[in-house]
Amino acid sequence: MVASDSAEASQIGADVLKGGGNAFDAAIATSLALAVARPQSTGLGGGGFLLAYIAHDEAFVALDFRESAPAAASTERYDAAHRRNPGGPSPSVYGGDAIGVPGQVAGLAEISRRFGTRPWVELIRPAAELARRGITVDGALLEARDELLKDVGRWPELAQRYAGLLEWLSPGGSAPRVGERLKNPDLARGLLLLAEMGPGAFYDGPLAEAIVRAAAAAGGSLTADDLRHYRVRYREPIRFSYAGCEIVTMPPPSSGGVCMAEVCNILAAARQGGGIDGRHDAAHLLLEALKHAFADRARYLGDADFADVPVQRLTSRAHAEALARTIRRERTQAPERYGTTAPTSGPAASPPDDRGTSHLCVVDRWGNVVALTETINGTLGSLVVAEPFGILLNNQMDDFVTRPGTPNLFGLVQGEANVVAPGKRPLSSMSPTIVLRDGRPVLVLGAAGGPRIITAVLQVMLATLDGTPLEQAMAAPRLHHQWQPDLVFHDGPLPDDLRLDLERRGHRFSDERRTASVNAIMILPDGTLLGASDPRRFGRPVGVP
Ligand code: DON
Repeated sequence: MVASDSAEASQIGADVLKGGGNAFDAAIATSLALAVARPQSTGLGGGGFLLAYIAHDEAFVALDFRESAPAAASTERYDAAHRRNPGGPSPSVYGGDAIGVPGQVAGLAEISRRFGTRPWVELIRPAAELARRGITVDGALLEARDELLKDVGRWPELAQRYAGLLEWLSPGGSAPRVGERLKNPDLARGLLLLAEMGPGAFYDGPLAEAIVRAAAAAGGSLTADDLRHYRVRYREPIRFSYAGCEIVTMPPPSSGGVCMAEVCNILAAARQGGGIDGRHDAAHLLLEALKHAFADRARYLGDADFADVPVQRLTSRAHAEALARTIRRERTQAPERYGTTAPTSGPAASPPDDRGTSHLCVVDRWGNVVALTETINGTLGSLVVAEPFGILLNNQMDDFVTRPGTPNLFGLVQGEANVVAPGKRPLSSMSPTIVLRDGRPVLVLGAAGGPRIITAVLQVMLATLDGTPLEQAMAAPRLHHQWQPDLVFHDGPLPDDLRLDLERRGHRFSDERRTASVNAIMILPDGTLLGASDPRRFGRPVGVP
């Protein structure tokens, strides 16, 4: 079974399974199809994380193919760009300096080389064919187009600079209609080249040249050397137990695993202390645990190859017990009381939606389990396209601290450990996750939605561990708190009594209705697979009977 944000992409992955491919083959084909079907979210110009269970070895693998900072990246460079155009579009969000060295192709190639069984060409062809034939326009693409037009309204210079992208999204001068087919012959050409020449074409070949050209024309520093030096990294997954299950998830440069472990450990410690009574207490406790975890995220997390990240301490029971003791049942507290010590904070911005990322899950007949979250970061990434290959380049540099003291696109305030530096990888919230019971995988999931990824994965996981049916767990409104801004977010109707109770305890609510998009597969004891794509979005799981 494959569950992804696009029915067309899930079908392409399921066809690979049907043809005898394994979960890794299917994940590659689905990912490439998503690059075509969800160009606003993921693609060759982005990066991601794979967390997988290899049934034959009963082992886990965590692969990091996150973007890295170009050699010339620095806070001074961003500062200078801001000074040149104060009030203009942020240089870590739009244009050449927003682009991190893409890891996506290196990641998929490594997955194919180490774990795949089908030829690379065979896995790319269906995506190239989809690009040639045209994707079916859905609401998600139209939302992305609207968002771009909003940006253009705010900074009219974007219209001229990214005219090609705007034209592609406006065939005949206006918005395409839902259900209409939108072709992408440039991307079809790029994919076919990648199929013929192999991944080398992307890092040291015609695609690399096109990328460097596009980045330079948009004012960026990305060089051919940056691409040539890009490497994927194997990481040690984070593993922790909760409610009788073992949870295996992504370590730095993701913050997901550390935050989820910290929250679950705090919940367990607080429950052991007693005095948690009913739904309202549980919601308050979740928010308090999130405030602690996101405060620690801000202070300590970043690329562990560059900064000293105390993963052991933050995910330890002792740390959670100490934090749990500070939680007051009757009242939430001021931001500086969360986490270990108070990090510096800046003004809080409003976080955007889930459009620049996509998560897919695959489970195959041999019991291999794949969780793959990929991203170009913001909707339509940096807006820079490497022509004539239709490769939309990421704006992952905004996940770094590029200007100390200033929150990023998601309103995240972050610390020293995540300050931009050459070759460093920006801190992520992507949380591909696998849950085991008695040593056997029972649930695989992940999400898109910036920091809401962490809270969405957590809440769907906690609900299913509690016995809530998967579809109901997916549909339930979700709470979100990321410590800064000091506000509770929720993405659906909350019972009035719950909201009033939380307000009485001092929580302040935001009116924004941003959301995350989850994909999940549950593996029942008899081997039956139950897939679910978030009802808030446009995905669909496809199974092979
Ligand atoms: O890695 C991260 O945490 C972000 N780049 C994810 C962005 C996201 O989920 C969707 N954004 N619109």
